[in-house]
Amino acid sequence: MEKIFILFFTLSSLSVYGQKFDGLAETPPMGWNSWNHFQCNVSEDLIKGIADAMVASGMKDAGYQYIVIDDCWHGERDENGFIQPHPERFPSGMKALADYLHSLGLKFGIYSSAGYLTCAGYPASRGHEYQDALQYARWGVDYLKYDWCGTEGLNAKGAYMTIRDALYTARRPIVLSICEWGDNDPWLWAKDVGHLWRTTGDIHLCWDCRYDHGTWAAWGFLKILDMHEPLREHNGPDHWNDADMLQVGNGMSVNMDRAHFSMWAMLATPLMAGNDLRNMSQETIDILTNKEVIAVNQDPLGIQAFKYRVFGTVDVWVKPLENGEVAVAFLNRAEFPMELYFRWEEHTFIDDVFNKEFSFSGTTYNIRDLWADENIGTTNDITSITVPANDIIMYRLAQ
Ligand code: GLA
Repeated sequence: MEKIFILFFTLSSLSVYGQKFDGLAETPPMGWNSWNHFQCNVSEDLIKGIADAMVASGMKDAGYQYIVIDDCWHGERDENGFIQPHPERFPSGMKALADYLHSLGLKFGIYSSAGYLTCAGYPASRGHEYQDALQYARWGVDYLKYDWCGTEGLNAKGAYMTIRDALYTARRPIVLSICEWGDNDPWLWAKDVGHLWRTTGDIHLCWDCRYDHGTWAAWGFLKILDMHEPLREHNGPDHWNDADMLQVGNGMSVNMDRAHFSMWAMLATPLMAGNDLRNMSQETIDILTNKEVIAVNQDPLGIQAFKYRVFGTVDVWVKPLENGEVAVAFLNRAEFPMELYFRWEEHTFIDDVFNKEFSFSGTTYNIRDLWADENIGTTNDITSITVPANDIIMYRLAQ
C-alpha cells in the first residue's frame, strides 16, 4: 500500500504532461512593442530610450511593464546553434539589455517564430525551440511573442505546445504570446498553451480600413473590434484574446486614439503601446496613462465587453466589473457627432455568458465619466450624451 502511494505521489508530482507557467498574466499584459512604429529599426539604444521614456512619462506608474523587441533583433546562430543578437544593433548583448530593463523595474520581451524564418526573414525557432528557450532564460527574458510565418505543413497547436514545453523546461517564467493571427482558432485550444493569442491579422494605422498586402491584409481599428467581438466567452485571467498592439500616438486623430484605447480597455485585451514613447504629445500621454480607463482593462474579473445595443452610429458596449460595478462605453463610428438621451430605467444589461445583470429600474448607480474625470449624476436621471465624431464616452457605474 505504501509503495503504491509513493509511486502515485512520484508520478503525480512529475510534469508528465507539458504545461505553461500558470498565473503570469492574471490581468491583461501591459507594455510596449517595437513593431507598429519602428518595424525593423530596432537597436539597444532605441530600447533603452523607450524604457527610460516609459518611466519618465508616467507609463510605468500607470501599470505598463513589458518592453518587447519584435522582429529583426536577430543575428546568426553560433557554432553550437545558439541564437545571437544582431552584433551592430545590440553590441552589448541581450543579457546587458535585460539587466538594464530590470534595473528600471521593467520586464523584457523578445520575438521569434515557429517556422525556420521570422516574418522579416531572420532566423526563427523551428528545430531550435529548446535551445532558444534556454538562451532566453539565460538572458533574463520575461515575455516571448511567437509568430507563425513560414509554418506551412505545421500543426499550430503542436508547434505552440513545443515552445510552451521548451520554455517550461528552461525553468524561467516567461509569458507566451501566441501570434498566429486567429487562423487556427487558438481560442479553442490555446488556454493551456499560452497566456494570450492574437485573434486577427495585423492592425493597420486607420479607423476602419482594410489594407491589402497582397497575400494578407491588415485591418483598421473598427475592423479588428468587429472580428474580436464574438470571442468574448474565451477571454479571461491568464488566457487573453489579443486584439493586437495599440496604434495610439502613431498618427490617428486624438479622438480616434481615445476611442481605440478605450475599446481595448473595454475588451480586456492586452495594452501594448506601439508608438515612439520618446516623442509623445501631451494628448497621447494623457490617453495612455488614464488610470481609471486602465483600471477597467485591468479589472480582476477579466470580462471582455459585449455590444449591448446600437443607436444609429453609436454602439453601446458593456463590461461587468468587480464589486457589482460596470463600465459602459458609447462609441461613435461616424464622422459627425451624435447626441442621445439615455433613459437608464428603460435598460437592463444582461450578460448571459458571465451571468451578470444590471438593472436600473430598482437600483441607483452613480455615474463617473472617465475621460471628463468627473461624476455626472445618477442613473435615476436621463443622461444627455453627445459623442463627438469618431470618439467615445466612457462611464463607470457604481452603486
Ligand atoms: C507578423 C506579426 C506582427 C509582427 C510582424 C513582424 O506580421 O503579426 O505583429 O510581429 O510579423 O515581422
